[in-house]
Amino acid sequence: MIPSLKTKRLTLRPLSISDQDAMVDIIMSDMDVMYWLPYSDAVSTIEGQQEVALGYITDFIKPWNELGFGVWAICIRDTKLGTLGSFIGYCGFLPEQIKGAGPEIAYAMGKSWWGKGLVTEALTACLDWIFIKPEVICVQAVTDMENIASRRVMEKIGMIHEKDVDLYDSVAKGNGLLPFYSIKREFYLRKRET
Ligand SMILES: CC(C)(COP(=O)(O)OP(=O)(O)OC[C@H]1O[C@@H](n2cnc3c(N)ncnc32)[C@H](O)[C@@H]1OP(=O)(O)O)[C@@H](O)C(=O)NCCC(=O)NCCS
Repeated sequence: MIPSLKTKRLTLRPLSISDQDAMVDIIMSDMDVMYWLPYSDAVSTIEGQQEVALGYITDFIKPWNELGFGVWAICIRDTKLGTLGSFIGYCGFLPEQIKGAGPEIAYAMGKSWWGKGLVTEALTACLDWIFIKPEVICVQAVTDMENIASRRVMEKIGMIHEKDVDLYDSVAKGNGLLPFYSIKREFYLRKRET
């Protein structure tokens, strides 16, 4: 069973295909949100947005069945942020992309909720959850060099910029190397204690 997580202001709950329209409204139909995300070139039409949203949701649910982790829907718990239970983004873990680097963190949130520390809050709950699993000794994340908000989030949750990598054909696509961040379980748990 996929767990739900609670933070002070958010609920992280299982995603389902019924989130497709909300995913389109909040993520795929906003080019400021999609700018750094996969398939940003495929969301210029409503049909494209629906298709990309469905692809994301499918990819986000799949690892739950195969690997015991995956991506959650981020929903409002604190009504100061909006309607209780509304979908405002996603975060969680995708399968390892670089051997030995561990699950890859993925996240995005609707623009109306940026800059409030919400993704940092959500990801902290995700890390607390995944590092209870003894088999997960490390998690990793990549972003684009110029995605400053995303890089800052990684730093705020304690991730270390280890190196720059050519992943997802980034160099061939003209996007250059991607900064690769990681955090080890031991380091994270020690940091949480202090
Ligand atoms: C990246 C993203 C998830 C951040 O969400 P958020 O809820 O705004 O994040 P937080 O509020 O927790 O933290 C953002 C941090 O970046 C900083 N920041 C944002 N834009 C910045 C900029 N242009 N220059 C410098 N710092 C910036 C904020 O000040 C904040 O840091 P602070 O708390 O030290 O002040 C959100 O912007 C988003 O969804 N972007 C589009 C999708 C995306 O890029 N996903 C990641 C793909 S790897």
